[in-house]
Amino acid sequence: MTSLAKNYSRRKISFKKGKGSFLYSSKGKKYLDFVQGIAVNSLGHSNPNLNRVLAKQSKNLWHVSNAFEIPEAEKLARKLTKKTFADKVIFQNSGLEATEAAIKVAKRYFYSIGQPQKNRILCIKGSFHGRSLATIFASSAKKMIEGFGPKIDGFDHFNFGDHKSLRKAITKRTAAIMVETILGEGGIKVIPNWCLKELRKICNQKKILLILDEVQCGVGRTGKFFAFDYAKIKPDIVPIAKGIGGGYPIGAVLMSKKVASGIVPGSHGSTFAGAPLASTIGLAVLEQIFKKGFLKNVQHLSKYFHIELNKIKDEFPKIIKEVRGVGYLIGLKLNADQNEFIRKLEFNKLLTIKASENVVRILPPLNVKKKEIKLALKIIRKVCLEYK
Ligand SMILES: Cc1ncc(COP(=O)(O)O)c(C=O)c1O
Repeated sequence: MTSLAKNYSRRKISFKKGKGSFLYSSKGKKYLDFVQGIAVNSLGHSNPNLNRVLAKQSKNLWHVSNAFEIPEAEKLARKLTKKTFADKVIFQNSGLEATEAAIKVAKRYFYSIGQPQKNRILCIKGSFHGRSLATIFASSAKKMIEGFGPKIDGFDHFNFGDHKSLRKAITKRTAAIMVETILGEGGIKVIPNWCLKELRKICNQKKILLILDEVQCGVGRTGKFFAFDYAKIKPDIVPIAKGIGGGYPIGAVLMSKKVASGIVPGSHGSTFAGAPLASTIGLAVLEQIFKKGFLKNVQHLSKYFHIELNKIKDEFPKIIKEVRGVGYLIGLKLNADQNEFIRKLEFNKLLTIKASENVVRILPPLNVKKKEIKLALKIIRKVCLEYK
């Protein structure tokens, strides 16, 4: 009998050790882990460099209050601003905190320029931005808001891909459009580059802000630091989390100088965010990801993965309908049942996780080896053969 409340339906498996792309179960079995904490362990399990950095920093200083200067947080923020569109950063501890802070930054900007009536955020219906009261109503998916009324106001919605309803939903009160660059939980649905460009144009025309939620698709997962880098656009505000901590909880909101002007002392805060231990680990992750050739390698190897997955799809069209995603944010949209498929993969020692629309998510670490991808492909093909 578990003492944990039942907010998850957990798979009946637990682990005692992880190393790189692999997990070792409590029963001593070895699994290829292509969940990686749902895109969290960007450099795999128990990364030797991260272990070293964590051990060293833990001996010096774990935590101090944001009432003081924190040089480690300064360093991480400087790295992020040097390498991206952003001029300023606010640290958080998770994805939902980052998306919620992104919403606050947008609202605060319009307040600070004397337009407090511009305070509504326009989102894709059924998208995923986290589980706080505000972010569940940002999504407005029935399964997320059920039982959590009254409704948190301030969000309007349009349907994915419905450009007419998007334009219609923009009003004088709209402060920002907030979308996931690639819808993760929603089924690895990629917003095409031309659409992202169009979104930027609309935001410019209407003088509203563009928030791109890169909590799942950011920090190198697609082979570029941000998924929107492929579209060559600049958003105004970008929440990130997951991959930047490499397994340690870190979130951040990246923003332009313009919108950061609304942020004044006292307008936002967090006890834990940006602490020395978290910041030092985040910096070590970024140093690895920004190493010469690292992201090129993600692009190169993930392309191979996509090509080979598409071959399996062509061989088994009754089982796999479509290969979705970019880089190592991969979705297999199935004709077969996703739960059964995931169970079969797990039985064959490959861990994956589901998303909406009957999609199986495949999320290797960014430093996955080609032979590990080959092993995954072999298992996926074997499982498809089992259906015959
Ligand atoms: C796009 C996106 N935004 C926000 C979140 C929320 O992140 P967290 O679970 O760390 O609160 C997630 C989590 O899956 C996500 O995928």
